[in-house]
Amino acid sequence: MRKILFVLLIVIAVVVAGAAVFVALRQNLTFDPPYPDVTASSDSSVVARGRYIVRDVAPCAACHGDPAQRAAFNEGADVPLSGGYAFVIPPGTFYTRNLTSDGETGMGSVSDGAIARALRYGVGYDGRALLPFMEMQGLSDEDLRAVVSYLRTQPPVRNPVPAHRFTLIGRVVKATALANPVGPAEPLSDRSPRGASVENGRYLAESVALCWACHTQRNQMTGALVGPRNGGATGFLEPDDPGHSWSPPNITSDPETGRLGRMSEDAFVARFRAGRLIPGSPMPWQAFARMTEEDLRAIYRYLMTVPPAKNDVGPPVVNLEQS
Ligand code: HEC
Ligand code: HEC
Repeated sequence: MRKILFVLLIVIAVVVAGAAVFVALRQNLTFDPPYPDVTASSDSSVVARGRYIVRDVAPCAACHGDPAQRAAFNEGADVPLSGGYAFVIPPGTFYTRNLTSDGETGMGSVSDGAIARALRYGVGYDGRALLPFMEMQGLSDEDLRAVVSYLRTQPPVRNPVPAHRFTLIGRVVKATALANPVGPAEPLSDRSPRGASVENGRYLAESVALCWACHTQRNQMTGALVGPRNGGATGFLEPDDPGHSWSPPNITSDPETGRLGRMSEDAFVARFRAGRLIPGSPMPWQAFARMTEEDLRAIYRYLMTVPPAKNDVGPPVVNLEQS
């Protein structure tokens, strides 16, 4: 009996040590996907399209905007994309990077191709698999070029951003579930769709505005989608607002529990034009309110084609201090 116990202990020790070595060895994996053939342009229509994507549809400033100017951002100002916002989540504390053209702390010395590759293949300048915060792998070549072109027009802001800090469990997740970068799921087009079509709506909702990224229940540790797509989510926390838990509603066309089941296309457009109605809502309403009418209609038409999900996530915001 003792002998069996002893052997069992040795086996457990070996497994634990093996797992620790495995995790440690996989902390600094690097990858080398191709650099997209994208170079910045100073053509004013290209820069204007980039501005629209960066400021109104994607909106990069929701995460990369100067955290000290959050109130101005929520009012609609074009705040500097100088980074430093901290996501404090179970796998660790992660800081958004400085996207301005500062040579030392921003992207001044990063090539156009490396910026484009980060968005398309989820691989950083240094070859690391990026954390899955920017699921915009489906951006067309046209829009990648527009985004890079607009970013290049941003004045430099010196702002050194701290390195990420992984928790123990975060290191395990990094070595396993998030070890490999995520590239595009399907072949990409050179040009972006336009107009009030389902195709354009699908492109904007899935690959640019990432509506599903907030409106789908996720695993808090890995970010994996665990609920019906666009079927709503609960427990959405904002690090700088610990008093509230948000529940992005079900935005499918389910007649009972889906917002779009009870909202006409015109009402949807009007709702977006109205901007943020619930103070503090993390949805970047002020940015989306500037989207073109065609694009808003396109998004509605696309969302009406996704499978309706029966899922009620309750009120949009819960006050944690009262409960
Ligand atoms: C939901 C939040 C979020 C949004 C929206 C977002 N980012 Fe990021 N971004 C991050 C985080 C977090 C990191 C750090 C990721 C890492 O280091 O693993 C990052 C890193 C980057 C990097 C640096 C890659 C590197 O090698 O360090 C670039 C470039 C970038 N983002 C560009 C953009 C652009 C352009 C947009 C808009 C089109 C955008 N991001 C929108 C959160 C976001
Ligand atoms: C950063 C997370 C986030 C993103 C991205 C996001 N939403 Fe939301 N959304 C929320 C939250 C939280 C709420 C609930 C609070 C509120 O109504 O402002 C909400 C509410 C809504 C509502 C209900 C509004 C009402 O008054 O009934 C609709 C419709 C909606 N979102 C559609 C969308 C669409 C379409 C997109 C993509 C273009 C999108 N959302 C992107 C977080 C997000």
